[in-house]
Amino acid sequence: MKRPIRKAVFPVGGLGTRFLPATKAMPKEMLPVVDKPLIEYAVEEAKAAGIEEFVFVTGRGKSAIEDHFDHSWELETSLYQRGKTELLEASRASLLKPGQVAYTRQQEPLGLGHAVWCARRIVGDEPFAVLLADDLVMADEPCLSQMVEVYNETGGNIVAVMDVPEDQTDRYGILDVVSEEGRLAKAKGLVEKPKPAEAPSTLSIIGRYILQPEVMRELDRQDTGAGGEIQLTDAMSRTIESVPFHGLRFDGQRFDCGSKEGFLEAQIAFALQREDLGEAMADILSRYGESARLVAS
Ligand code: G1P
Repeated sequence: MKRPIRKAVFPVGGLGTRFLPATKAMPKEMLPVVDKPLIEYAVEEAKAAGIEEFVFVTGRGKSAIEDHFDHSWELETSLYQRGKTELLEASRASLLKPGQVAYTRQQEPLGLGHAVWCARRIVGDEPFAVLLADDLVMADEPCLSQMVEVYNETGGNIVAVMDVPEDQTDRYGILDVVSEEGRLAKAKGLVEKPKPAEAPSTLSIIGRYILQPEVMRELDRQDTGAGGEIQLTDAMSRTIESVPFHGLRFDGQRFDCGSKEGFLEAQIAFALQREDLGEAMADILSRYGESARLVAS
């Protein structure tokens, strides 16, 4: 029996400069896809995978995230008094139970590995998950649940992976694959954001990880890598000889909500799936279809 994954780390300290001015006074993780903030999708995915403790690595200007997962008494009282039960439920859906949530701050932007390391005392000596809210995954079975299922067989470190176009390897952590079996790729190395000519493959890490405590111990070294930052990819790579490492080609569609194009596409895809909005979105798309063709030509 593998040690269960009970804790998840959400690095939410990033500045979100790509979405300025929207993110000047609001965390990028609070940007909504349809009507739900990105971070809530990630937390729901973690809950579905059996996570019991939620650790947010925040930073200055991120307190809206803490408020979001707490009661909003004025709002709830007002909705209750007006008999708006559905909205009241929607507002309460994001509540995390007392003691189930912890916030710590990354005081300097030293990289993803550093952000995860900031959670080391809260995580302690056990395996844990990491979810990057920018990577939004639409799937019948949530992405992290698919990974936990695999983890229960393989143990070790597991990341969600997908092939990306060759000219985009410098945006991702890339796997050096030894063998593939079904949806699982076994790696012998990892490279953070290699140039296309130097990339060992096009199999890229997207923001879902199941990690062993050994990775946290590697992060203790505080070694810097690509871009002068402390990289999570490098810490995983250094444990690859002693800890099994697999990439899972998850079932589902990933939207890169750290980019404007991916964020806009997510709005459309998620709206189309909604009972209350699907038809309206399909109608909007058909009305804009002609002008879209003109822009494209
Ligand atoms: C981070 C990781 C990278 C991973 C990516 C997934 O990069 O460093 O290995 O492929 O997330 O979204 P970032 O997007 O923070 O630059």
